[in-house]
Amino acid sequence: MIDFRNPYTPGAGMMPKYLAGRNTELESAEQRLLAIKAGYPARSVVYYGLRGVGKTVVLNAVAERAEDQGLLSRHIEVTEKSGSFVRSLSYACSAFVLSLSAKKTLQNKLGKLISVIRSFTATWNPSDNTISFELDGEALSSATAGTGNLTNDLTEVMVELGRYAQKADTAICFCIDEIQYASEGELEALITAVHRINQLGLPVIFFCAGLPKILKTMGDVKSYTERLFEFSRVDSLEIDSARKAIIEPAAELRVAFEPKAVDAIIEQTNGYPYFIQEMCATIWENSSSKVITVDDVASNIAATNERLDNGFFRVRFNRCTPRQQEFLVAMVQCGELPCTMANVAANMGISPTNRISTFRAQLIAKGLIYATGYGEVDFTVPKFDEFIKRTLPDKF
Ligand SMILES: Nc1ncnc2c1ncn2[C@@H]1O[C@H](COP(=O)(O)OP(=O)(O)OP(=O)(O)O)[C@@H](O)[C@H]1O
Ligand SMILES: [Mg+2]
Repeated sequence: MIDFRNPYTPGAGMMPKYLAGRNTELESAEQRLLAIKAGYPARSVVYYGLRGVGKTVVLNAVAERAEDQGLLSRHIEVTEKSGSFVRSLSYACSAFVLSLSAKKTLQNKLGKLISVIRSFTATWNPSDNTISFELDGEALSSATAGTGNLTNDLTEVMVELGRYAQKADTAICFCIDEIQYASEGELEALITAVHRINQLGLPVIFFCAGLPKILKTMGDVKSYTERLFEFSRVDSLEIDSARKAIIEPAAELRVAFEPKAVDAIIEQTNGYPYFIQEMCATIWENSSSKVITVDDVASNIAATNERLDNGFFRVRFNRCTPRQQEFLVAMVQCGELPCTMANVAANMGISPTNRISTFRAQLIAKGLIYATGYGEVDFTVPKFDEFIKRTLPDKF
């Protein structure tokens, strides 16, 4: 081990010691935050990209900036569980009420907002007892009923929240991660609510992050989505940024890389932030010199792959049924990605092609693959094909 302090951060949403290559995204986010705080309109944003490219990290960095600018911000992570989106939203709304109640201009004047959020929470979240915020002795979760129409109720909540934020001279920033797990009905409600708050010029903004499929789903749900949200692709790092992501964390601890070692890491990882972090962390653990050489990189490839296989890839593969796994193997057997459904079906020995559409839909819902257009599919996890080849070599 070079030093007991390992400066690399492989792990979901872990803020890297050096946040490389996201200046454009963060500057643009900062402009939007400043605009809505000053009472001017700004479009909400959806960051989309493959697994491990750094979407959550961008979202966390935006939330940090929002708080630095004096906005109220909450991070929400949607899960696959049904109802998770609305539950987390009502939780966040209750937390915003608490923050607003601390504002001088609003003290003891939050009655309408509380009752709207209370009805929303009760209607959409009846069995959840994790929400137990209290304000002036009143629990925000116990309640009378809302209208029962998610779109109307969510819009009403957002509008009231916006009005109160405006009165308190502040703005509200929702950061919603894993948005692809929200149902179409939930997305429709969200988009309609954003439409309404934009029309009224209220200071509420959404930064969302999700897998590429979100681009199509949100567009399909409402035709005007693209006017309300900017879709911003988060991708692997460009060479210069990848170089910095590798070099800078080590430099802080006075450890350097030979230029060839850096090139080799970029080649191995294709500039994917998660792979960079995992590979550099492994090299750090297994090396002892203050200068990391190309040989250090070469001798850590197998160990890095083992860690990725056991941590990043296999959990995803094991969550699939045998038939779904066959579908994934058939995709890799196509030789080139994205691949057509006809080729996948042929490799599975199934015809006609539409007999495998259930597996396709299930794997998309699980977030493992996505449709790239023209009926083709690809993995949401970079290098998943290499993992499958390593794990099941006799299939190829
Ligand atoms: N810009 C960056 N520079 C350096 N490292 C980064 C950067 N962005 C993310 N990372 C690192 O990459 C890894 C993945 O980041 P993150 O969890 O944000 O990805 P993600 O796109 O949200 O993935 P998932 O789709 O699986 O949720 C983390 O280990 C993080 O430290
Ligand atoms: Mg994430």
